[in-house]
Amino acid sequence: MEFKNQVAISTGAASGMGLCFAQNWTDLGGNVVMCDVNEAALTEEFAKINAKGCGKALGILCDVRDYDQVCAARDRAVAEFGRIDLLCNFASGTAVRMQKVDRKQYPEFPDVPIEIYDWGIDVNLKGPFYFSHAVLKQMREQKSGLIINLGSITGQEGDRYGMDYPTSKAGLMFGLTKSIAQFGEKYGIRCNCVSPGPVLTRAAMANMKTLLGRAAEPQEIIDLILFLASDKGQFINGENIMIDGGRNAMGRG
Ligand SMILES: NC(=O)c1ccc[n+]([C@@H]2O[C@H](COP(=O)([O-])OP(=O)(O)OC[C@H]3O[C@@H](n4cnc5c(N)ncnc54)[C@H](O)[C@@H]3O)[C@@H](O)[C@H]2O)c1
Repeated sequence: MEFKNQVAISTGAASGMGLCFAQNWTDLGGNVVMCDVNEAALTEEFAKINAKGCGKALGILCDVRDYDQVCAARDRAVAEFGRIDLLCNFASGTAVRMQKVDRKQYPEFPDVPIEIYDWGIDVNLKGPFYFSHAVLKQMREQKSGLIINLGSITGQEGDRYGMDYPTSKAGLMFGLTKSIAQFGEKYGIRCNCVSPGPVLTRAAMANMKTLLGRAAEPQEIIDLILFLASDKGQFINGENIMIDGGRNAMGRG
């Protein structure tokens, strides 16, 4: 695979899979725009990529919940590299984890303050929605492009407590992805969703069961994304692809 001179935006690129993608993409010759709210990690990681001397990385401090910041990131990407071939919406976080919700204080879903869930829906659903809206303007002009959303096995299974996360992920897996593919018909734009089971960007994910008896390495998810973006993946469109070690096929009994 080679992505020489192709331009990708990776959101949530200061860590985890967003970062792993940026490293892979530039190793394969592409240029990457890395967006995140974690300024310290972002600065360190995009400098490391540029020091390697393969594809170029540009780091932009950008909160995916803020549409003006999202448009500014798109405009800087185009000013720097002239086009956007791929948008990968990695940025995310479950509200109860990220906002460190005390389960003793808030035992069940209706007890948790709504502002906590607002945060989760804003990052996980509105973030990709905003970024897609902004970037599709550029892709429409180019008459080409690919958007990859990140769903989750939790979007398929639900979660009785952290409801912001499955609600948002299902929106990406079954609503946004197909809708963008439909919009893209006239413009040569594709959209797919990659929905992982447990991935070892966090050690705790090793406890989630799969039929293979293990969680995925981040690289296994990135390999699928690179395939979708490569010459070999061009006929895959409007699809949600589970990559979960068979967790979705497990008996629920
Ligand atoms: N790790 C898993 O087991 C797993 C499983 C299924 C799906 N996913 C999905 O895969 C994607 C990547 O997951 P990960 O584990 O690599 O995540 P991660 O937690 O390692 O990284 C997420 C990044 O998003 C950034 N971020 C958070 N809020 C932001 C905002 N408002 N604006 C911009 N950036 C923001 C964080 O700073 C962080 O760098 C996510 O969409 C996640 O939901 C992960």
